[in-house]
Amino acid sequence: MKVTIGNADKEMGKKSAAVRTKLLERTTQCEAIASRGQSVLAQEVVQTVDLPHPIYIESAEGPYLTDLDGNSYIDLTGGFGPNVLGNKPEPVEEALAAQIKKGWHYGIPGDGQARLAELIKESAPAVDEVMFCNSGSEATMFAFRAARAVTGKRVVALFDGSYHGIHDYALIRADMKSERSTPSSITLGAGIPEEISRDLMLMLPYRDKNAYDLIRKYKDDLALVVIEPVQSSNPRLDNREFLHGLREVCTECEVLLMLDEVITGFRIEYGGCQEYYDIKPDLVTYGKAVGGGLPIGVVAGSKHVMNTFSGAENTPAIFAGGTFSGNPLTMASGIGALEYLKDNKEEIYPYLHEQGNRMASEINEFCRSNNMPVQMMNAGSMMHLIFGGETIESSRDINRSQYALENEFYLHLLGHNVIVPGIHLAFISFAHKPDVIDKVIDAFKKTFEDLREDGYI
Ligand SMILES: Cc1ncc(COP(=O)(O)O)c(C=O)c1O
Repeated sequence: MKVTIGNADKEMGKKSAAVRTKLLERTTQCEAIASRGQSVLAQEVVQTVDLPHPIYIESAEGPYLTDLDGNSYIDLTGGFGPNVLGNKPEPVEEALAAQIKKGWHYGIPGDGQARLAELIKESAPAVDEVMFCNSGSEATMFAFRAARAVTGKRVVALFDGSYHGIHDYALIRADMKSERSTPSSITLGAGIPEEISRDLMLMLPYRDKNAYDLIRKYKDDLALVVIEPVQSSNPRLDNREFLHGLREVCTECEVLLMLDEVITGFRIEYGGCQEYYDIKPDLVTYGKAVGGGLPIGVVAGSKHVMNTFSGAENTPAIFAGGTFSGNPLTMASGIGALEYLKDNKEEIYPYLHEQGNRMASEINEFCRSNNMPVQMMNAGSMMHLIFGGETIESSRDINRSQYALENEFYLHLLGHNVIVPGIHLAFISFAHKPDVIDKVIDAFKKTFEDLREDGYI
């Protein structure tokens, strides 16, 4: 049998064949569900690595996931980021149980929105007011609209390598054929009018001061500059200087600056990257961790900008809403999570940085000493294993031809009972105690050895 590694089909090695057999033999219930789903699901959202079939989860607890066949795995999916406290943390479980007794969807709000908004406001000086929606994508959509309404300008600028969700103004990426320092934008996937990328969006180079010049050049049309303070495509923390420079240029050009903290909020620090870098944006979006594991999006920011949601002080008003926005169950779970994170932040955040750094440095040391061209990038508890030995300045430097090798890696890792999701972004949580991290490091090392034995790296 053949396996695709890099750009080439290679003869499948012994270790690769063995892990496939092992995984198939022990996941027969998962296989049954996979074939059931195939006939009714147009797209099964949220994937793990591709076996001949995916695996399906029965339950989750702390740092572990258990699949339908009863196999237990160390979980590095982190629920795609929200689970800063791990799976099913007690404070959130209790908050949810208490709310479920009282009902979970009224249409008319309970007292939860005000309390969760207070917690978010107290976490960051940039936040005067908050508006809730159901996902990070909704949050960025509303934020772009708010910025356009408040400024009366049309163009929103994004950075090469960023991700801001699934709406038409977010699915814009840099054309890889364009110049690195002056990237042009194209739409991602079919169905999005090219006029959006051509006329309404500006692509900026990440961690490159030419971005400042482009902002100066287009300032008269620019409503908003949006940045992930840490990009999940290349997680790192050495962005302080670039972000502060960006803040200065946006102020100078009278262009609003938004930090998209959907992943980083309440994960990098309790006050997100705003606290880590000591930076004050005009707008912030949150999601993921703020909902304690239930769907949420949050638009937050200065009163001047947030006035657009109410039309206060003669600000042009935008339309916003949503059947489930601010629903009591999500509010309860978010309050449960944030209150716990806040009360224990002196312990939680140093721990996440310490263990994330330890994991990255031990894996990097192993790869270096074994001459393997692989590197683990991390921003505290969020990490991405990059195949290729080049220095990574931005996602442009990531060697995309290695994707098949990455998939092979994660398949073997699954065989060693550690799950990283299909997007290849890994998270640890406060529930991942040092002995669990030791096991993860060990599984990574064994996986590298498997690939080497089969001659792939
Ligand atoms: C920075 C950022 N913004 C927005 C989103 C979209 O959030 P959601 O998946 O909740 O729609 C994501 C999702 O990963 C994200 O990482």
